[in-house]
Amino acid sequence: MAKKTQIKNILVTGSVGQIGSELTMALRDKYGADNVVAAGNRTAPNEELKNSGPFEWVDVTQIMQIVDVVRRYDIDTIINMSALLSAVGERIPQKCWDVNINGLINCLEVARLFELYQVLCPSSIAVWGDYAPLDNTPQETVLKPTTMYGVTKVAGELLCDYYVRRFGVDARGLRYPGIISAETLPGGGTTDYAVWIYYKAIEEKKYECFVREDTRLPMMYMPDCLKGTIDLMEADFSTLKHHGDFNMGSMSFSVTELAANIKKHIPEFECTYVPDARQKIADSWPSSVDDSVAREEWGWNPAYDLDGMTKDMLDKLQKRHDEGKLYG
Ligand code: SER
Repeated sequence: MAKKTQIKNILVTGSVGQIGSELTMALRDKYGADNVVAAGNRTAPNEELKNSGPFEWVDVTQIMQIVDVVRRYDIDTIINMSALLSAVGERIPQKCWDVNINGLINCLEVARLFELYQVLCPSSIAVWGDYAPLDNTPQETVLKPTTMYGVTKVAGELLCDYYVRRFGVDARGLRYPGIISAETLPGGGTTDYAVWIYYKAIEEKKYECFVREDTRLPMMYMPDCLKGTIDLMEADFSTLKHHGDFNMGSMSFSVTELAANIKKHIPEFECTYVPDARQKIADSWPSSVDDSVAREEWGWNPAYDLDGMTKDMLDKLQKRHDEGKLYG
């Protein structure tokens, strides 16, 4: 078996999720629909995902299920988007560890054993917590997260770097901020409020936010997330000094600023605040990150700011609402 040397046949695990669903479609556009296998576990794929290319059920905690798909489709690249996010991870921490870490090591092991070309697995702003500077957080600083999700993301970054160093597996990852998008709703995360606020602004002209108005977190619009992820996938491995842990910044705003931005388009919009357990998680994360290393090593350069994102989100959601299918 010869080592695979290029991206041809891609497996996207967690493809039914918020990012996976749009990333799969973007990869199908670029690499050919039949060459991108979407994999889900339990949640049914939407019609677009299911009908536009191959779909398989894969539980990443079961290595033989990954092996089976890799063999049948001659996979060379695994994009592991399967994960339990921060809020749900606090409810079921053991399961969060199982999916996020045992799932990842299974992907890395398959890549090692079958000599695949690449594994990409996202990390998150959740890697930070105690003792890290939370404003313009640098690439290299203390990683002491306070959530199980954060623990798994730190361990995941270290695992990727270990597989690069020890086994020569090409493993890559980026620390996503909160991702805002209009296609698939997020589930179980702390940054989910920044998506729901748009849906509720369109639907009810009001939103009850589960974090305080002064909560400021790094965020990114989906088109930038897709572009950055694909750019990192396609970057020349030999030019990368970092591998599993690139800081990735875009915009940063408080909920007050986000609500005011929406109000420019929907003047009646009102946001109220009833913080719950997710506040503590949000407070442990940075307000902004320094992504100069990603900019230098593989040319990261996001396009959207808050104004551009709000306009695009509201246009898309309003159109769907008018067609009677805001939620798909
Ligand atoms: N969006 C994630 C969450 O809120 C952070 O990576 O859990």
